[in-house]
Amino acid sequence: MLLIKNGRVIDPANKIDDILDIFIDKGKIIRLATSIDPKMVTGDRGIDNQGIKSGLRIIDLGGKIIAPGFIDMHTHLREPGYESKETIVTGCKAAAAGGFTAVACMPNTNPVNDNKVVTNYIINRALQEGGVRVYPIGAITRGLKGESLTDIGELKIAGVVAVSDDGEPVMNAEIMRRALEYVKYFDLPVISHCEDKNLSQNGDMHEGYVSTRLGLTGIPAAAEDVMVARDILLAEMTSSRLHIAHVSTAGSVDLIRKAKAKGISITAEVTPHHFSLTDEEVASFDTRTKVNPPLRPQEHLEALCEGLKDGTIDAIATDHAPHSTGDKDVDYPSAPNGIVGLETAVALTLSKLVHTNMLTIDQAITKLSTNPARILGLTGGSIQEGGDADLTILDLQREITVNPETFQSKAGNTPFEGMKLRGGAIMTIVRGVVVWEAEQG
Ligand code: DOR
Ligand code: ZN
Repeated sequence: MLLIKNGRVIDPANKIDDILDIFIDKGKIIRLATSIDPKMVTGDRGIDNQGIKSGLRIIDLGGKIIAPGFIDMHTHLREPGYESKETIVTGCKAAAAGGFTAVACMPNTNPVNDNKVVTNYIINRALQEGGVRVYPIGAITRGLKGESLTDIGELKIAGVVAVSDDGEPVMNAEIMRRALEYVKYFDLPVISHCEDKNLSQNGDMHEGYVSTRLGLTGIPAAAEDVMVARDILLAEMTSSRLHIAHVSTAGSVDLIRKAKAKGISITAEVTPHHFSLTDEEVASFDTRTKVNPPLRPQEHLEALCEGLKDGTIDAIATDHAPHSTGDKDVDYPSAPNGIVGLETAVALTLSKLVHTNMLTIDQAITKLSTNPARILGLTGGSIQEGGDADLTILDLQREITVNPETFQSKAGNTPFEGMKLRGGAIMTIVRGVVVWEAEQG
């Protein structure tokens, strides 16, 4: 039993922004009210000498924010197959420490999550030891090869919440069309990794002034834009649900904005590294800046922020992509793509978007919880009596310096090392259990 007192409850789904108490028992929110007397809470355990039910933990938040549990709709947990980079257990610990109560994990494991055996494995491992909720995403094509569709019905029954070939685009437009048609029977979204491989050519970074200066191979913004345009046309044609992963260009934002205005069923996410860093970071040749899609110049970053502000971009997702130090300790072109994000995403959102007045705190919570729940059709994303007690508690003034050595993740491939940030999660509650809390001080 848990009684949280004096929290500023912000729940955009129910339009709540109020100082309230929350009483939690057996994983559920039992009461949400202005003032809940600990002596009055129901429970079947004994009463101590102060008249308070034993086994009741009381937390006074003194006005700190309680949000519906944050959901990262784009995580790579690496298990099965790449356990030297991350496991379901370490990935879940990283999620909890970053303020996430749930993650949706991408299928580019080994074996690929393109069948129910892998989906069941992930769900069972997470239930046994995960701590946070784990929602698997199934592959669109077998082995992520882009050639033949998976049995999406089987994957849905096994528990996937979306399908994606993330890490790889579906280059064949006919296959993408069939995938969009097929998911309609199962009410699942297709999450698209938009990259025209003929244009991107396995490049190292964004194609532009900096790539020319550094002599690295460039990936033009158009490699993303043309696939976003194609997928929008296919979503319109099929009247299906399309979600664009890791939007990184001004062109994509513009296309998505126009598609939404036309009433096409499309949603989109952006990562904290894409709204925080530009391609100038690559000048260090630090392979921790290597990511796909690549970091872009300032004008793209500004367009992403505008897209977040006006609602074109629905969600903030980490694309947490752990790689071991050894994997990244190579020359820039040889390094794998990826940045870990679970333990920095909330602090980056608060520092770079909320404290700069780009987004209100209500909008930030919408993009970290309400919208991911809506897009993936999950039960969370709101705070209400009778609902699951999945909560993220925030301290907007908490000062942190990013230090990968303190990460719960197995990996530390972050270009944010040493960055000072303000604001972050201080407690993560899943099914009424405190799965992580920040050290005092
Ligand atoms: O940077 C990335 N890393 N982009 C992707 O699309 C895949 C991901 C990974 O799996 O490492
Ligand atoms: Zn990804």
